[in-house]
Amino acid sequence: MRSPRLRVVESPNALADTAAKWIHDRAWEVAGARGRFTLALSGGTTPRLLYARLAAGPRLPWERMEICFGDERAVPPDSPESNYRMVKDTLLRAPGLPPERVHRIRAELPPVEAAREYEQTLRKLFAGTTTFPRFDLILLGLGPDGHTASLFPHTAGLVERQAWVLANWVEKLESHRLSFSFPVLNAATEVLFLVAGADKTWALHEVLQGGATVQDVPARGVQPTAGALTFLVDRAAAAGLVLQSA
Ligand code: 6PG
Repeated sequence: MRSPRLRVVESPNALADTAAKWIHDRAWEVAGARGRFTLALSGGTTPRLLYARLAAGPRLPWERMEICFGDERAVPPDSPESNYRMVKDTLLRAPGLPPERVHRIRAELPPVEAAREYEQTLRKLFAGTTTFPRFDLILLGLGPDGHTASLFPHTAGLVERQAWVLANWVEKLESHRLSFSFPVLNAATEVLFLVAGADKTWALHEVLQGGATVQDVPARGVQPTAGALTFLVDRAAAAGLVLQSA
């Protein structure tokens, strides 16, 4: 397991610009080398700017990409809470992005059924995989409570070791969430955390420099077994970190 890399930028805008270039370059490099680039998106608010940048910016090899969702709220696709809807309003506006390259979680279904169905979708995309799918890049966010994807503190999903996709009951939300399991997150070639805002200071410190357990700060459970892990964060979120002087 490699130690995580940390990259601090000035603002949410700088974070979106840096991440957009990162993804653009990686997509062309990997699609060029291996014929396809598999990307899992994060939800929430932080990636909105990034997705809008990717849609409006230099073209990506959309025809050779498979775009998936690392988690979803248990709501229909037109709900204002839906991660798919957020992505549809931003990234999916990209000219030339074939709709069949985008694989959403049908979260309007009963949660367990939605999780099972999405696992089948991934098994088709990663046909022949006997263990866990190896995404080229997984984007993740960080909640103020230390959750990532939809793996929340003290939820059953934290100990899931078989399923690729799980329906995770989150008591404090009184709702299920659909989420990749830790084994899928940790099988990735590369994981990129995007973290912005002062409300993430505690969680980011705990993930990178604290001693919390995975039960208390689930993002600490993201440790790619044979992949790279990078935290791209803005100055406000990094305020609680002890940074080495350049
Ligand atoms: C979701 C996410 C979740 C998100 C964090 C951070 O569906 O909410 O995938 O893990 O990344 O909650 O969310 P913000 O970017 O909104 O702070």
